[in-house]
Amino acid sequence: MPDIIGENRRQIKFTETILRDAHQSLIATRMRTEEMLPALEILDEVGYHAWEWWGGATFDASLRFLNEDPWDRLRTFRKHVKKTKLQMLLRGQNLLGYKHYADDMVDEFIARAIGNGIDIIRIFDAFNDTRNLESSIRATKKHGGHAQAALSYTLSPVHTPEMFVNLILELEQMGADSICLKDMAGLLDPYGTYKLVKEIKRKANIPLELHTHATSGLGSMTLLKAAEAGVDIIDTALSPFAEGTSQPPTEPIAYAFDRSDEIYAGLDMAKLNEAAEYFRPIREKYIAEGLLDPKLMGVDINTLIYQVPGGMLSNLVSQLKQANAMDKFEAVLREVPEVRKDLGYPPLVTPSSQIVGTQSVMNVLAGERYKTISREVMDVVRGKYGATPVPITDEVAAQILRRGDKTRITHRPADDIAPELEKTREQYAEYITQPEDVLTAAMFPGPATEFFQKRKEQQ
Ligand code: CO
Repeated sequence: MPDIIGENRRQIKFTETILRDAHQSLIATRMRTEEMLPALEILDEVGYHAWEWWGGATFDASLRFLNEDPWDRLRTFRKHVKKTKLQMLLRGQNLLGYKHYADDMVDEFIARAIGNGIDIIRIFDAFNDTRNLESSIRATKKHGGHAQAALSYTLSPVHTPEMFVNLILELEQMGADSICLKDMAGLLDPYGTYKLVKEIKRKANIPLELHTHATSGLGSMTLLKAAEAGVDIIDTALSPFAEGTSQPPTEPIAYAFDRSDEIYAGLDMAKLNEAAEYFRPIREKYIAEGLLDPKLMGVDINTLIYQVPGGMLSNLVSQLKQANAMDKFEAVLREVPEVRKDLGYPPLVTPSSQIVGTQSVMNVLAGERYKTISREVMDVVRGKYGATPVPITDEVAAQILRRGDKTRITHRPADDIAPELEKTREQYAEYITQPEDVLTAAMFPGPATEFFQKRKEQQ
C-alpha cells in the first residue's frame, strides 16, 4: 500500500462490477469481450480487491447473443489480468443454470473455472438453504479457490439479524473463506445496514462483503454506513455504468473514504479516471442504440414503498396488463406477502420472486386462493428447491398438494440426482472440442448446441 495512507486507518476493499452486474443491470449483459479488452490492463492497475465479471447471465448472453465462447473470455481475461482477483458468481447447486445438477457436474465445473483462471467463487442459493451451497464450497476449496458464500438479503418477519448471523456461522463452519451479504433487489437502507453489519461483525470473524444496488437512491449511503460499521469489502461499478439499477459508483466512494480518519480505499484515482474515460463512449453508444434506457439510470423508490424488488414489480404489472386487470394491482401487492408467508418466506430473488409473484396474480384473478396452482409452487412445497427459511405448514402443504404428487422431501434436492457428467459427455460427443464444452452443454443445452453447430461450420 502507498505511504500516503495513515497507519491507523482500516482499508475498505473494492470489488468492481462494471464487467458483470453493471452491464447486466443496465444493458442486458451485452458488453462484448472486445469492448472490455482495452480496459483490462488499466483496471488491473487500480488496486481493486477483485472484479466480479463472470456468472450466469454473462455466460448465457455470450453464447446466445454474442456468439462468443464464455470460456475463451475467461482465458483471455486471465492472460491480461495479472494483479486483480477474478471473481465469478455461481448459483450453488444450479451452477449457472436454473436446475439442480449432480455433485460430479458441480465439481467438474468448479475445477474448470478455477483451472482457467477464476480466483474467487461467490456462491449463493435463492432460499439460503446452506445445503445447496455445500458441494460448491467443498469443490472450490478442493481446487484451490476462494469460496465466498453469499446470503440472499431479503425483508421478512423471519429475516432478522439473528437469522443472518446464524447462517453466517453455519457457512463459516462449512469452510467458506468470506461472506457476501447479497442485496440483489436493492432493499438495504443505510441505518438498517449499519445495525446489521455491526451485529454480524460482533458475532462472526469472517471477512464480510456487501453487494447492493443503487435503484432506490440509497446505495452509496448504504455502502458508507456499512463501511463505518466494519464491512471489509464493497461492490461498486465504475461511474459510466453505475447508479440506477446498477451498483453505486466506484470513484466518488473511493474518494470519500480517502478523506476519512478511520478508513481508506487506496485506489489509484488516475487509473480509475483513465478507465472511466474509456467506458464513457461505450455507454453513449448503448444509449444511442436504445439498449441503455435512461429510465434505468434514475431513482426508483417503488422497491422501498412496496418492499419487493423492482424487477418483480414490473413483472406483476406486465402480467396484470396482459390480463387487462391493472385495477387489481393493489390487491396483488397485498397478496404477495400472504403467498410468501404460506411458502415459508423465501427471499424474493430469481426464481422465487417469479414463483411468488405469478401465484399472487393467479390467486387474485381467480378470486379464490390456490384455485389454480403453478407447478413451481407445488415444487417449492415438495422441497424440490431446498428448505424454505421457515417450514411450510402441513395445512398449507395439504391445500397446495391436494392434486398431484404429495411427496415432500426434506433432504438436499441434489441427493436425488445420479452422477451425470459421463452421460452428458456421451450425449454431446460430436460437438465436444474442449473439456469445458460438456459443462456449457449441460447448463445451456439449446444455445450451446446452436453455438457448437456454428463453430463447426466455421472450422
Ligand atoms: Co446484483
